[in-house]
Amino acid sequence: MLNKKMATAINNQIQEEMYSFYLYLAMAEYAADKGLPGMQHWMRNQAMEEMSHAVRFMNYLEEKGAAVELKTLKAPPKSWKSPKHAFEEALKHEGHITGCINNLVDLALSLKDHATVNMLNWFVGEQVEEEATAKGVIDMINLTGAAPGGMFMVDRELAARPAAVDPMNPTAQA
Ligand code: FEO
Repeated sequence: MLNKKMATAINNQIQEEMYSFYLYLAMAEYAADKGLPGMQHWMRNQAMEEMSHAVRFMNYLEEKGAAVELKTLKAPPKSWKSPKHAFEEALKHEGHITGCINNLVDLALSLKDHATVNMLNWFVGEQVEEEATAKGVIDMINLTGAAPGGMFMVDRELAARPAAVDPMNPTAQA
């Protein structure tokens, strides 16, 4: 049995992860509009990862016999000042998600819910990676500076991101 407060908080997190999916999808469309297929590929794969995070939480609620409640998603922004600005906003968003995960851990600890703490530990590690990855892209854009063709080179790097795993089978990923 999962504590009701914990189940509600996890359902709220599913909404956060699905909004993240939506946000990265919007960034992918922005990239396509700017003629950056590598960035579009990167953002679409990030969107798929976010969906896999939502499905991980759904699977956990199911395993614990708690109901999954899908909530309304707000519309994400449509454009950003520049590709770099989009990645800066992505990093800011990941900081917000890290805070959400930390709050979930705090709640689980206060309820002495060790199974949920254990499940959440995967997300604690994942958030370190997500923030580092977004920061890495910002650093790469900064390094190219105003060099001619700089963003073209970054875009080629972004195109090399490996395809995301099937989001409906999230535990297949490392
Ligand atoms: Fe699901 Fe990017 O955090």
